[in-house]
Amino acid sequence: MQIVITPDYDSLSARAADEIALVLRAKPDAVLVVPTGNTPLGMFHELARRAAEGEIRFARAHLVELDEYWSIPLTDERNLYRWLDEVFISRVGFAPERVIRFNSQADDPQVELRRVAQAAERFGGIDVQVLGLGFNGHIGFNEPGSPFDAPTQLIELTPESVASNARYWGSADKVPRKGMTLGFGTLGRARQTILLVSGEDKADILARVLREPITPAVPATWLRTLPHVIIIADDAAAGKLSPLV
Ligand code: F6R
Repeated sequence: MQIVITPDYDSLSARAADEIALVLRAKPDAVLVVPTGNTPLGMFHELARRAAEGEIRFARAHLVELDEYWSIPLTDERNLYRWLDEVFISRVGFAPERVIRFNSQADDPQVELRRVAQAAERFGGIDVQVLGLGFNGHIGFNEPGSPFDAPTQLIELTPESVASNARYWGSADKVPRKGMTLGFGTLGRARQTILLVSGEDKADILARVLREPITPAVPATWLRTLPHVIIIADDAAAGKLSPLV
């Protein structure tokens, strides 16, 4: 595991964009997974800038959605694919047929979960996944207690995650209670993993992820079982790591 500490959020975003650019240069049809949330917004902005300037191309790349609320249509502002499309997908020029999203309103969620897990494999497996870190250590919607081997899952959000997701939608009562997510079984086969962590309020959980025993109770400790992980944290988020790093 490599831990990169950057002076601030802008340099974290630029560093994350550098990693994606490297992958795309080596493999233009790479399979990517990215999160929604606040942390990756700077990276998306930077990738869009580089794509507009012709430095990188997404036309042949694949994207598999990391997670999605259950039962929230595309017309609803809370649909995570809709969010991702606005801030990233439509801005960098992915080919629509190379983008796989969860159908949040599928008749049978289990069939839908299998379809998305299989799509990642059909594209040749995930080349690089960028992940964010929840305050309770969640990754995607893999909440505490999530098994380390499930390929995908439909999960009930914890009260902590509902409270945290209220940041996006104004109040907790607007936060959907269930989510679909790529599980650790699928994410664990990615060739490279990048965890982005920004801000002082993530310093405690980042220290716990690196220090506590590997356990589903702190889902992101699972990252320590993977061979190729880069954690990119800004100085504020890394504030409680020393003398670890
Ligand atoms: C969202 C996702 C979540 C977020 C995490 C951090 O697609 O996968 O696990 O990455 O909740 O969110 P922010 O970056 O908003 O603090």
